[in-house]
Amino acid sequence: MQKKSYKQIHKNILTWYSQYGRVTLPWRNTQSAYEIYLSEIMLQQTQVKTVLERFYFQFLEKFPTLKEVANASVDDVLKAWEGLGYYTRARNLHKTAQDTQGILPNNAQALEQLSGIGKSTAHAVACFVFNEPLPILDANVKRILYRFFAVKEANDKKLWEMAYALYDIKNTYIYNQAMMDIGSLICTHKNPLCEQCPFFSLCQGKDEPLLYPTKKKKAKKPIRKRTLVIYHQNNQYALNKNDERLLSGLWGFKQEEAFNITKNMTELGDFKQHYTHFTLEAKVVLVKNKEQKKYFTIDEIHDLALSGADRKALGLLEAHLI
Ligand code: ADE
Repeated sequence: MQKKSYKQIHKNILTWYSQYGRVTLPWRNTQSAYEIYLSEIMLQQTQVKTVLERFYFQFLEKFPTLKEVANASVDDVLKAWEGLGYYTRARNLHKTAQDTQGILPNNAQALEQLSGIGKSTAHAVACFVFNEPLPILDANVKRILYRFFAVKEANDKKLWEMAYALYDIKNTYIYNQAMMDIGSLICTHKNPLCEQCPFFSLCQGKDEPLLYPTKKKKAKKPIRKRTLVIYHQNNQYALNKNDERLLSGLWGFKQEEAFNITKNMTELGDFKQHYTHFTLEAKVVLVKNKEQKKYFTIDEIHDLALSGADRKALGLLEAHLI
């Protein structure tokens, strides 16, 4: 892609950011590589509001430095991540903390070699911490690029070319932060506010922004029906450590595909849990049994990292016990 001069647009972005940029976000007010890296990992799949209100400060209070993450067990890191979802992020964070002994490298190329750090996250951390002049390419930035260049479909290679063609190499910190703000405040999915956008003058998609990118028909999520069986004895309840990739390392009640509910069991209720690729529809039953491997009291269960589904099941159990 040919490199054009976007001088005026870059100027517009600096002005826009000074007026509307989310400059008070905590990860924009620290020099700490760890604090910025942590924010980028949390923000990969979670909205700013959730990260800010429920997870970022709490995690930093438990683990003020990356060294403390390295010295902790993966179970403790998963526990601090509980509720944030996409737990691979927490396992990778722990691995990266250990692999680097708590000291992150100071450039994008080395950062990208670490577990859980892709090219865009490496660029974000290298830019925000070490001032490396590299563009980023998260979902918000992609949407702006599709519209700015009026491109309906593109692979990652092409998207990176567009990102490199458009970015401001002289003010990369502000440009990158502004891109995320413009993506979430102006160039939104459904109601882009084009007239307020600093890209407006040269945006090729501004007449019909919703045409870009072409919407892919979402396949309907399959439903996975399961019975969550809570085995119990002497006020203790059986949980196993998950080894399924998705929830690996988290504790959970036994899940059965086909399960006959009989008279000597108690039905506690049912719930739904939405995952990226399927929806779990679960029935929860309480069964007396002493054959399971590990039993825990309710207080002990509260100290384990549980998946969202298992926390719902625990809620039903606790409601039953009142
Ligand atoms: N999403 C990913 N990185 C971000 C940042 N630095 N600010 C706001 N949202 C983000």
